[in-house]
Amino acid sequence: MKELIKKLVEAYGPSGFEDHMRQLIRPEIEPLADELSVDAMGNLIALKKGDGRGLKVMVAAHMDEIGLMVSHITKEGFLRFTNIGGVFPHTLMGGRVQFANGTIGVVYSERLPDWSKIHPLDKHYIDVGASSPEDCPVEVGDAAGFVQQLLVQGSRYTAKSMDDRIGCVVAIEAFKQLASTPHDVYFVFSVQEEVGTRGAQVAANRINPDVGIAVDITPAGDVPESQFMPIALGKGPAIKVKDTGMIAHAGLVRLMKQRASEATIPYQLEVLERGSTDARAMQLANAGNVAGCISIPCRFAHSPSETVDNGDVEGAIKLLVELLSQPIEL
Ligand code: CO
Ligand code: ZN
Repeated sequence: MKELIKKLVEAYGPSGFEDHMRQLIRPEIEPLADELSVDAMGNLIALKKGDGRGLKVMVAAHMDEIGLMVSHITKEGFLRFTNIGGVFPHTLMGGRVQFANGTIGVVYSERLPDWSKIHPLDKHYIDVGASSPEDCPVEVGDAAGFVQQLLVQGSRYTAKSMDDRIGCVVAIEAFKQLASTPHDVYFVFSVQEEVGTRGAQVAANRINPDVGIAVDITPAGDVPESQFMPIALGKGPAIKVKDTGMIAHAGLVRLMKQRASEATIPYQLEVLERGSTDARAMQLANAGNVAGCISIPCRFAHSPSETVDNGDVEGAIKLLVELLSQPIEL
């Protein structure tokens, strides 16, 4: 699993530019799938057929990551940019980003008159070593993501785009471990989550699932002076109860807790006060669906060093397999 994590978290794939991610994930799931398709937006959808006695279940993990998009190039060859998803200025200064063609740039900001205050994104720029728009290796509309190698320390994994490549890993591993299921399970590796759960929305409209389960990260509050959130690394996957975009289906939350207890998987309960996931899109698709989310606690979300714990990842895989392999009565 470590090799798979490394492969996915180091790969390029800002929202709208998920082609490479899809190429990496496809061979992992193709041998297991009864049907495999890619829709117009780029969602990768793999079906594992049930025995006909279960429900239609959609599992969603997003392939995309936050990033930067070139908005214009100055006459000196510096790139001004706009954000793709929730990019925070304080995570950028001095960091490196990579474009689809391999070009790497350094992000910096204009002079700070007051070092206690950071500039907004439009006062930042990317330096790719160009001296004019003509010799610049990228153009307006090109997108970049952070560059970072996977760091493994004890049970901790640190990398860019843990959000949500680690969710993709959980979905792939659960798919591999799922020997049999009563349900028709659609594993969806979705696009454009970070700009508003757009991929999952169209996939859910097409699949029209009875039950939708997202697998995503949630911020951990176990760091100094963090916003209060009783989610900690290493205490098990979190079962989402509420975030700013959805209230999870109470029956599904109850079932998740029950399956976790039966299989002695430690778990935490999540009430997130900022952000949402593909579960919202699945809940609101068509005439409405049962939806919930398994979250992997993550420190430093939306920074180049998102950190998760292997025990929580293993727990999330186990919980997802328990849910999918048994009847779902809500
Ligand atoms: Co995110
Ligand atoms: Zn996410």
